[in-house]
Amino acid sequence: MENSIKNKISELKAEKNAVILAHYYTSDDVQALADYVGDSFYLAKIAKQSDADVIVFCGVSFMGESAKILNPNKTVLMPDLSADCPMAHMVKPGKIDEMRREYDDLAVVCYINSTAELKCQSDVCVTSSNAIKIVRSLPQKNIFFIPDKNLGRYVKEMVPEKNVILNDGCCPIHAAMTADDIKAEIAKHPDALVVAHPECEEEVLLLSDYIGSTAEIISYVKDCDRNEFIVGTEVGVAYRLREDNPGKSFYFTERLPCCVDMKLNTPERILHVLATGENEVIIKDDIIERALVPLDRMLDIAK
Ligand code: 13P
Ligand code: SF4
Repeated sequence: MENSIKNKISELKAEKNAVILAHYYTSDDVQALADYVGDSFYLAKIAKQSDADVIVFCGVSFMGESAKILNPNKTVLMPDLSADCPMAHMVKPGKIDEMRREYDDLAVVCYINSTAELKCQSDVCVTSSNAIKIVRSLPQKNIFFIPDKNLGRYVKEMVPEKNVILNDGCCPIHAAMTADDIKAEIAKHPDALVVAHPECEEEVLLLSDYIGSTAEIISYVKDCDRNEFIVGTEVGVAYRLREDNPGKSFYFTERLPCCVDMKLNTPERILHVLATGENEVIIKDDIIERALVPLDRMLDIAK
């Protein structure tokens, strides 16, 4: 990255009292210049605590939206407003109402990777790092888990006392990894441990030595005394893994799990939105008010 871009970004940040947040799946140069880098849960907490006037959110739209919902009086900018998570939309219209009619004792549990409109219809939000704890804590027996069937299935297994009902959505990046892809890496690197995100299909998780959210994978690898890892999550995480563990080796599946939407965030676009104030996240007041309830509930239970 050019030094001049970096310097201009620093000057504008100071001038506008702005902070840059980036998800682990953004590109290396974006992570290198961000003030805070983390998984969805960490970034939601940072957005809530921040005393900056402007938040530049390098991620996808549900992340920018969540930052705005948690900070309605702040300006939230996204380097590229078209960076979206396809899974965030994967609940059929009317499905939540249908489930509420079918079950009296139902909690709608919404993975944070969802649109603000879906959050408005939900009882509580979760991320991959707190879903098990939150589902376990709910008074309801029946849980409609949206939108990710893979994280939902993983939670169902870990919380057998609940009736977790799955929805037909998934992350196209994680779900594209197959058991054969992982087995091919195991054959090449027989001493490596397999670590995977719960957004992966069951056949991949069954081959995994460790399952966790992006931040959990990063901390597991750092604390582990093994030196080689096959990583079943988005390739952007390699930046943190390599920075934290210079002596360790990381292998990804041959068809790289790469989220193109996350990669729409670039240093040039960060500079542009900081300079112009373009790409502001705007959400209607009534949506903010209703979507804040499940998000705040998540932050409260997960504390
Ligand atoms: P986490 O940040 O919770 O690990 O979720 C992964 C993801 O797919 C974010 O888009
Ligand atoms: Fe959505 Fe998957 Fe990209 Fe995360 S990695 S933003 S879940 S498409």
